[in-house]
Amino acid sequence: KTKLIIDCDAGIDDAQAIMLALARPDAEVLAITCVSGNTEVDHVCRNVLRILTICDHIEIPVYRGCTKALVDHGKHAKFYHGLDGLCDLKGLPEVDMNLIQTEHASCAMNRIVGENQGKITLICIGPLTNVAVALRLNPDFGKQLKKCVIMGGNTEGQGNIEDGSAAEFNFHFDPEAAYMVLHELSCPITTFSWEAVLQNQYPWDWLKRILNIKTSKAIFHSTILRTSLDKHNEWQFPGYSFCDPTVVAIALKETIVTKSRDVFATVELQGRLSRGQMVSDSRNLQKTPPNVKQALEIDRDLMMEMFSSVFEERSDS
Ligand code: BDR
Ligand code: CA
Repeated sequence: KTKLIIDCDAGIDDAQAIMLALARPDAEVLAITCVSGNTEVDHVCRNVLRILTICDHIEIPVYRGCTKALVDHGKHAKFYHGLDGLCDLKGLPEVDMNLIQTEHASCAMNRIVGENQGKITLICIGPLTNVAVALRLNPDFGKQLKKCVIMGGNTEGQGNIEDGSAAEFNFHFDPEAAYMVLHELSCPITTFSWEAVLQNQYPWDWLKRILNIKTSKAIFHSTILRTSLDKHNEWQFPGYSFCDPTVVAIALKETIVTKSRDVFATVELQGRLSRGQMVSDSRNLQKTPPNVKQALEIDRDLMMEMFSSVFEERSDS
């Protein structure tokens, strides 16, 4: 089994990603760490407990991490995820916040990775603040990881922030943390950029079939997706786009990436419209060795098969 730590800012698509990881027989989720991003970190913690409750995995330890970005405080993604990160819905599971571990997320990451040297795949589906702090606590943190798969960054400079900037949300929220991770983590890093999300969309009919399944997990999933689907309609995306769940799939099955490029990439820290943008030296003009593998194309049939199986495994309602 692949041993995972999932660092998230749940978040609708973080919820989908966690549900996918929990349903996979080839994955063992050792910890879920929470960071401020789509919403405040306490909401993130609550949402993770809700997801674990729905998926019958409340035994997995959840850690509270950084409440703010390293330098300036990014803006939460209320326009898409609501104020509480799961669209401010009534009727989601009640949870006991005392279940949140007292150890800080960045300390927990370091401890668990130290106890499992070379065996942990770190899945990052939120801003990279917790990971950057883990690195500052222990410069060897990255060297002790097996690999790191990140939802974030760009390949062409197309953003997904309300203000129209060129950066992807997770990198835009904490550019310094993203910079540190790309420059210092020193383990194999795969990124799935916002442009790659747009280039790998899924048929609406396929999603509709999942939304019509009536198990408790599937009902939770369709409920939290409802308002975000209105946004997809508004933006007139030709298909459904998956951010965070794709990163889980890449972490578990590298062959799901059918096209990629190895490149040296950094993060713009200045710039009125480009702060947080990932900048790739695709012509290798700087003669610097690649520090990331950028996933460009996904085997979408395989992704659909993996995600469908989350909801088809049992009929419990
Ligand atoms: C990323 O931003 C967040 O809103 C999503 O959860 C995803 O991790 C996509 O840019
Ligand atoms: Ca996320």
